This record gives sequence, structure tokens and C-alpha cells, in this order.
Amino acid sequence: MNQLLNRYSEEVHQILAKYPPDRKRSAVMPLLYLAQRSTGRVSDQDMADIAEIIEISVTDVASIVGFYTLFHEEPGGRYRIQVCTDLPCALRGADQFLQEVCSELGIGVNQTTPDGLFTVEEVKCLAACHRAPVFQLQGDGEITYHEHQTVETARALFAELRSKSGVQPQTNQEAGDA
Ligand code: FES
Repeated sequence: MNQLLNRYSEEVHQILAKYPPDRKRSAVMPLLYLAQRSTGRVSDQDMADIAEIIEISVTDVASIVGFYTLFHEEPGGRYRIQVCTDLPCALRGADQFLQEVCSELGIGVNQTTPDGLFTVEEVKCLAACHRAPVFQLQGDGEITYHEHQTVETARALFAELRSKSGVQPQTNQEAGDA
């Protein structure tokens, strides 16, 4: 049984209706977005379901998930902080900034804070090379860019997001103990 089709039958058909039958593979992006919407990630089952619906291989679906930072295979926090460490950004201190962000949150790359709020990820070029250090923030259905970053500006943003979420600030020591 195709679980995605079963769960979101109406929406899947609405998406497919936007494409000619012989071009239904083009629906892969909206279907991935649909699959990810409720859980924040695309599971192996989701990829198999999408491959079946649009009649392409699971490998093709997986390659798209792997390519776009918009899609996530692993569970994460409410907010994903995606720091670019590609070469031009690395030359402008991105690696150091990434370490500072991790230290600030008390986690490593690809880890999530114990309160479930933040996940730090390393990504390739975000097309803002001359404004590094830069990260994109995904969460609450939005993507925002944060350029010319320092650990101080990032810290202020994290505090704002914690406040918005009603989560109390956590010291680095507490994060390390968790
Ligand atoms: S290399 Fe980082 S934004 Fe382009």
C-alpha cells in the first residue's frame, strides 16, 4: 500500500493534476514537500511511495533529497541552522563560525539541542559567498538568510527564537550535561 497516497490522497491528486501525465515526474518536489510537512523529514518509505506515484526510481528520489538542503532525511529540531562551509565561505571564517555556533548551543554538527529546538547542519554554497559567514534558518514553515554573521548576532537570534518558542535559555554547561 502506498502510505503517502493513502494519507494525502486529495493533495497528491491535486499536485499530479498540475502536470501532464507524461511529465508527472516533475511533481517530485511538491510531493517531497508534502511528505516532509508533518514530520519535518522525508523517510525511506516516503521516498519509495513518491517513486511509485511518479514512476521513477527510489534512487532518483533519494538523489533529489540529498541535493537540496530544503529536504531532510534525518529528524531534526524545530529550527535547522544550516551554515555554509563551502570554500569561499571557509576563506571568510565559516569553519570557525560553525564551531562557535556549535559551542554556543552545546551540540555538534548534525546534532539537536536537548530541548528539540535547534539542529546545526553544514551545507554547500547558499549563493551568498561574499556575505559570509552565512547560514539559512529553516523552521516554522519559513526559510530565512542570515549574512555577515558573528557568534554575537547568532546568539541574539537564538535567544529570540527561544523566547518565541517559550523555551528557557540553556547554558553551555547545561547543554553539555544533557
Ligand atoms: S560558498 Fe558559502 S554561500 Fe557560497
